[in-house]
Amino acid sequence: MNRTQADRGRDVVVQAVGLRKAYGRGRERLPVLDGVDLTLHRGEVLALLGPNGAGKTTTVRILSTLVAPDAGRATVAGFDLVRDAARVRERISLTGQQVAIDLKQTGRENLWMMARLAHLPRRAARARADELLEAFDLTAAAGRQVGTYSGGMRRRLDLAAGLVTRPEVMFLDEPTTGLDPRSRQAMWEVVRDVVAQGTSLFLTTQYLEEADQLADRVALIDGGRVAAEGAPAELKRRVGQVRLELELATTDDAGRVAAALGVPVPEGGADARTVRVATDGTLAGVRELLAGVERTGVAPRRWDLRTPTLDDVFLTLTGHAARTEPRPGTGEPTRHTEEVAA
Ligand SMILES: Nc1ncnc2c1ncn2[C@@H]1O[C@H](COP(=O)(O)OP(=O)(O)OP(=O)(O)O)[C@@H](O)[C@H]1O
Ligand SMILES: [Mg+2]
Repeated sequence: MNRTQADRGRDVVVQAVGLRKAYGRGRERLPVLDGVDLTLHRGEVLALLGPNGAGKTTTVRILSTLVAPDAGRATVAGFDLVRDAARVRERISLTGQQVAIDLKQTGRENLWMMARLAHLPRRAARARADELLEAFDLTAAAGRQVGTYSGGMRRRLDLAAGLVTRPEVMFLDEPTTGLDPRSRQAMWEVVRDVVAQGTSLFLTTQYLEEADQLADRVALIDGGRVAAEGAPAELKRRVGQVRLELELATTDDAGRVAAALGVPVPEGGADARTVRVATDGTLAGVRELLAGVERTGVAPRRWDLRTPTLDDVFLTLTGHAARTEPRPGTGEPTRHTEEVAA
């Protein structure tokens, strides 16, 4: 698709070009963002997907005016991030990775306070708080100190606090990390509601499934840049809906099987005897792959069919595994050194 043409036809609410950010100084200087380009259209959900330390929170903090980029430009809701920071702040909400509510106050008091801080008149503030408590299934616990809430309840209250005013753009930093599957589902429902009411959403996640569930578009962040971008269905098509995973007895066997299947040879470490390959999800396709393995004469110790993980996405789209922390000291943009040998 020609992105320029597509963008022209639609309202852009977040546009970031060439965002750079490094932390520390001298040999300890750690480049985190190395030219990040991102676009969020009105009414859209964009998921920034990446492992620990990829720079997701840094990106969100820059776009929500909490930290300044070293270089690059961005507009949010039509305003320049640096020149018009106050105007940007009026139009966004940020729900961070850390819960930001007051544990000594009750859930209701927290929302009242947020509403008052957002200049809602007293009566409107109460009404909005009650509405949100209801929507987030917190009415029964509304009079209890937040300190007594479970993690999932705190997360929901946190999200509610970000919605006291209806933001034009909402930033959600890993909204469901640490939640159990049921709470995660509930959170997804709430997020879909928010979007249905017209808020554009910029979300970060480590979960492929979350991106798939919520996002219209997914941007994969790697080495401080957006390494791949597309609709979840497009990424799934490239990565494969169903993956064949084979565990071999030796690294030699793994090499032979990988070569026969035409996939990269596994990296060193614990993974070195495991070969993973995308299938087209059909019986015939899987059978053909298995026949290919059989022809090598190598017997796998174990084999399995499963849905792709974040690691599979990285391996397929970037040619290397997701690495969790960039390394300081080189002054070079963060690059992954464990490239897969061809
Ligand atoms: N204020 C800071 N000072 C120094 N280093 C920082 C600072 N903030 C972030 N970093 C470093 O920048 C890198 C990216 O951090 P960031 O929090 O953006 O990652 P993330 O993708 O949000 O990771 P996670 O999934 O763990 O939340 C990490 O190596 C982190 O240690
Ligand atoms: Mg983070």
